[in-house]
Amino acid sequence: MAIQTNLLSTGSIHSYIRIVMAEELTIPEGVSKEEIYKALYPQILALVEGETDGIANIANIIAALKESFRWWWVGVYFVKSNELVLGPFQGPVACTRIAKGKGVCGTSWDRAQTIIVDDVDTFPGHIACSSASRSEIVLPIVKNNEVVAVLDVDSEYLAHFDGTDQLYLEKITDLIGKMNWL
Ligand code: SME
Repeated sequence: MAIQTNLLSTGSIHSYIRIVMAEELTIPEGVSKEEIYKALYPQILALVEGETDGIANIANIIAALKESFRWWWVGVYFVKSNELVLGPFQGPVACTRIAKGKGVCGTSWDRAQTIIVDDVDTFPGHIACSSASRSEIVLPIVKNNEVVAVLDVDSEYLAHFDGTDQLYLEKITDLIGKMNWL
């Protein structure tokens, strides 16, 4: 505060040093979601470069996705003691534990497959952590041929996710699975 006052009083406002975090994202506006994913991926690589802590890296990846796409909810569940346990997320508070084969997340884990649900009301056993959620995509995160976590994205709009989301989100789940973070 003292430094800022001094700069202002001497008229040296242009020499004021603004500290910008290296982690600030550049998100293109007015472009397709494919263009946003393409712009985001190298920034995600830069975000995690040199950091080995899995929670820190996954938390930042989730925040980057939320900031880029403004989805209702995005986060991960980790496989722990044969159930899914909530990990880093952005959005409203969520269910903490999900059994294998239950809901979209538990089904994605059980089948080791990405699942896109256009209308959550039509998915048998869908777990409604939030009544505002209308559509969903869940992707398994695979490490050494085993599902170790899932990435879950929820939207308040019907049929919000498609093959483009699957293609680019799978690049991110592949990255997480290949790293030695988990
Ligand atoms: N809807 C998910 C539960 C997780 S929350 O949406 C965050 C499911 O059916 O597995």
